[in-house]
Amino acid sequence: MTHRSTWLMFAFLASIPTQAPAAETAPAADTVRYDGSTHIFTLSTPQVTYAFGVNERGELQSLYWGGHLNSDDPLPTAKSDTGSASFDPSTGSTPQEYPAWGSALYTEPALKVSFPDGNRDLVLHYLSHTINGSHVAVLLKDISRDVRVELRYDIDPDSGILARSAHIENHTSKPLSVQQAAAATWNLPAGNDYMLHSLSGRWAAEWHLDQRPVLPGQTVLESRRGSTSHQNNPWFALTPAGTGEDSGPVWFGALAWSGSWRITVEPDLRRRIRVTGGYNPFDFSYRLAPGESLDTPVFFAGYTPGGLGEASRLLHRFELTHVLPQAPQPRARPVLYNSWEATEFNVNEAGQMKLADMAARIGVERFVMDDGWFGARDNDHAGLGDWVVNPRKFPHGLQPLIAKVHDLGMDFGLWVEPEMVNPDSALYRKHPDWVLSFPGRPRTEGRNQLVLNLARQDVRDHLFHVLDDLLTQNDIAFLKWDYNRNWTEPGWSEQKPEDQQRVYVAYVHSLYWILQHLRERHPKLEIESCSGGGGRVDLGIMRLTDEVWTSDNTDPFDRLSIQDGFTYAYTPGVMMAWVTDSPNWVNQRSTSLEYRFLSSMQGSLGIGADLTRWSDQDFQTAKRLVTDYKSIRMTVQQGLLYRLISPRDGSPYSATQSVSSDGAQTVLFAFLHSSSMLYPYPRIHLKGLDPQARYRLRVLAGKPDENTPKEASGAYWMSDGIQLMLKGDFQAAAVVLDRT
Ligand code: GLA
Repeated sequence: MTHRSTWLMFAFLASIPTQAPAAETAPAADTVRYDGSTHIFTLSTPQVTYAFGVNERGELQSLYWGGHLNSDDPLPTAKSDTGSASFDPSTGSTPQEYPAWGSALYTEPALKVSFPDGNRDLVLHYLSHTINGSHVAVLLKDISRDVRVELRYDIDPDSGILARSAHIENHTSKPLSVQQAAAATWNLPAGNDYMLHSLSGRWAAEWHLDQRPVLPGQTVLESRRGSTSHQNNPWFALTPAGTGEDSGPVWFGALAWSGSWRITVEPDLRRRIRVTGGYNPFDFSYRLAPGESLDTPVFFAGYTPGGLGEASRLLHRFELTHVLPQAPQPRARPVLYNSWEATEFNVNEAGQMKLADMAARIGVERFVMDDGWFGARDNDHAGLGDWVVNPRKFPHGLQPLIAKVHDLGMDFGLWVEPEMVNPDSALYRKHPDWVLSFPGRPRTEGRNQLVLNLARQDVRDHLFHVLDDLLTQNDIAFLKWDYNRNWTEPGWSEQKPEDQQRVYVAYVHSLYWILQHLRERHPKLEIESCSGGGGRVDLGIMRLTDEVWTSDNTDPFDRLSIQDGFTYAYTPGVMMAWVTDSPNWVNQRSTSLEYRFLSSMQGSLGIGADLTRWSDQDFQTAKRLVTDYKSIRMTVQQGLLYRLISPRDGSPYSATQSVSSDGAQTVLFAFLHSSSMLYPYPRIHLKGLDPQARYRLRVLAGKPDENTPKEASGAYWMSDGIQLMLKGDFQAAAVVLDRT
């Protein structure tokens, strides 16, 4: 599949406006079938089959989701559940693909609407369908009113990952109000021993993997904050008992939406697990006038029998080949330097030039100036909104600094936080009405700033033009796009009261619109999604940004578990990780420069230290490790990740291994928190190598046992493994095996 057709395949499902779909390349034969005699749809790849059908009532009923079935294998028939006693009629216990709230539904609805006459009953039945390559569109309609929902499906032939979304249309003659709209409901086989895996956190402590049993009742993962949030990330995995990192069934999914979202997980009365996800219904209402429609975000989901490790690898590959702007072959992430921890707001031409000189000496490829370069931005009380170069700090504009950075062989990146405004700014003084707020009510500030209402077209257009000018006037290769608070008082007073809550959708569409149009106008531009660290990481923003800032927590030991959690859902290729100073500001923990580098080299390497305080020895170490990183970065960023030893739950050890996509190289990172009682470091058995091939050992840091061979077969490294001589506190090792 070509890049363009791949992009369009998912653009077909997307909720954001894109160009008109172009002709598709043919998918693998037999990917999608409809059997007219049984009314069953199957979406199949060599690994996965997903099936649903139209039952005798006309409901779209989920039938099967799991490992590949042959076309002559029997599938369950689409027949409604019998129900259970007078308290649980059949509609509620029949697993529907997209249950609307109406009839007898007590589980989470995918769609809930309210009509102006007070009726709130909606019962969706099959009307028609179209199949176009790997796309399936099934049209449902209410049993009496002309409300239609087109369910859109797609399947990636390589990973078996499905994409689902819904398009809701009001064909009645009166407005209706959508009060709840999910992208999809996913139904899993019945079971009483499911575990739910999800990611939670807070500022500077993102990406904690939570694992809990699925019990009767709902488990709600959500953000009510207007953006993705640090607190929960829109990713889930569900596993039956016995599934681990390396084997066992996993159903997993990720929602492509950067606004308020919700995923609910609940067993029904037959212990079938339902996962429903889309717009967060909290404070949600979207009025559809006659003829209007609403698209939901896309909810991606997959299945593997290969454990949580394989689920992550499938998602990583999918993100690299289908989601990221440079898919299917993103270029290697450049090693970058960022000035934030070195200077904070205290940036100026001479200081940045000095840092750039030093960064170039160690092999940095991209120099990024962070906050403080614009308006009256001497601290976080002023200046946001005024994207003009501060003349005191940069009397000749940005040009001399950019020219210097280019002369040093690096490209130039800049920090921006376009969606925000400080009340102490020229922009706010001119347009106090541009912020989200309820008139006459207090406006809660976060970091002394307010949120601009991007849902307003004038605000959206203003931001686009300001950024477009900045990028046109200066040779800027990269924007670090920050977002440092969540929504409060989300009023949009220019709209009629009944339309104000559209802000939850319209804001995010405007954000995507700006990012998309900037990319179109400046095709070489790369963007990092940052929100006070990892507060806006999801498959929606990843379609338009090239990397993400994982966390403001740059403590290299804390980072091991932060990065471990991150990789359950997202590829290390986008996981920006800086080497900063020691002791680190977060915990006052002291670690060696080599330890800090190895921790950051597990992702996309950056350096955020105050280089003016480095010794010659530090520069030599850094230069060596940056060179080493460049020799392994494609393996780390785009290879297959094996989480060998998890750093979670106080483990003194942790180890990861990446295998390059062509199998020619593998990289092992191992970390020791502290040794005790004379115990040796656990022997490490590598994974994913060709047993017959021979691999030569290259040590980047640390020391293997003296009996370790210089070269051996893949079978040897996997079966006998490698003994690393790690001892002491905060020790680390990295070794590479190159196929001979
Ligand atoms: C956020 C980011 C940091 C830095 C500061 C600048 O906190 O996450 O990396 O850019 O803003 O104000």
